[in-house]
Amino acid sequence: MLDVLILLLSLSSTVVLVPPPSITPAPCRQCCDHLGAEESSRDQAELSYVPEVRTYINMTILKGDKGDRGDRGTPGKAGIEGPPGSQGPMGSKGSKGQAGLPGDPCKVQHSAFSVARRKSLHSSEAYQALIFDTVFVNLGDHFNMFEGRFFCRIPGVYFFNVNIHTWNFKETYLHIMQNDSERAIVYAQPSDRSIMQSQSLMLELHLDDQVWIRLYKRERENAIYSDDVDVYITFNGYLIKPSEE
Ligand SMILES: *[C@@H]1O[C@H](CO)[C@@H](O)[C@H](O)[C@H]1NC(C)=O
Ligand SMILES: *[C@@H]1O[C@H](CO)[C@@H](O)[C@H](O)[C@H]1NC(C)=O
Repeated sequence: MLDVLILLLSLSSTVVLVPPPSITPAPCRQCCDHLGAEESSRDQAELSYVPEVRTYINMTILKGDKGDRGDRGTPGKAGIEGPPGSQGPMGSKGSKGQAGLPGDPCKVQHSAFSVARRKSLHSSEAYQALIFDTVFVNLGDHFNMFEGRFFCRIPGVYFFNVNIHTWNFKETYLHIMQNDSERAIVYAQPSDRSIMQSQSLMLELHLDDQVWIRLYKRERENAIYSDDVDVYITFNGYLIKPSEE
């Protein structure tokens, strides 16, 4: 063995004789000898170096497999409305429309009616249309005799007039109507004298507007007088100026 060591040492460049590493010869003893005091104390010191064993549980091992994905939750409440966005850019200008048909400078539009009633009338309902039985003028049949209504076929400004004769001791209460709106009243209190009463007005009418006379019966008797000899009740209307289209 010493020969090998020398051989190894001689192979290295610097020959330094070093003592063999800590080979302390064990003290000679008999196998049946008691352990010496020095020996036993050394064993005890070695025992105290035994590392403490701690119980460590790796939770990762205990963990199960990953579960299935849960159901989707209910959606949350809507957030607060944001501020309005900025105004967008202006659109491009549209193309010019086609020119209309040439107008007729000589064309004059007419609408006129004059109707009358020869029979007296006691109104029986709260609201009752006044119907006429005599035609003096009805251009283009714009006045409907069955309904007692003038139908506007030419939009524009119209003049209307109504004349009635009151009945003594009875109330007279009627309205000039435009569609379902009262425009003017003809009224007379009950009196021992019967008199002629009238009302006139101008109305701006739109296409299909209707103008008519409505009787209004309250708690008292409501009536207008006429007889077969003379005409007491008339309703007249005509176009003053058509609307510019
Ligand atoms: C626990 O165990 C897992 C799986 O075997 C492993 O990847 C991880 O490194 C361990 N953690 C510790 C602290 O030992
Ligand atoms: C009057 O009534 C007619 C028919 O219902 C309708 O066409 C017209 O627009 C009405 N006019 C107004 C001013 O309401």
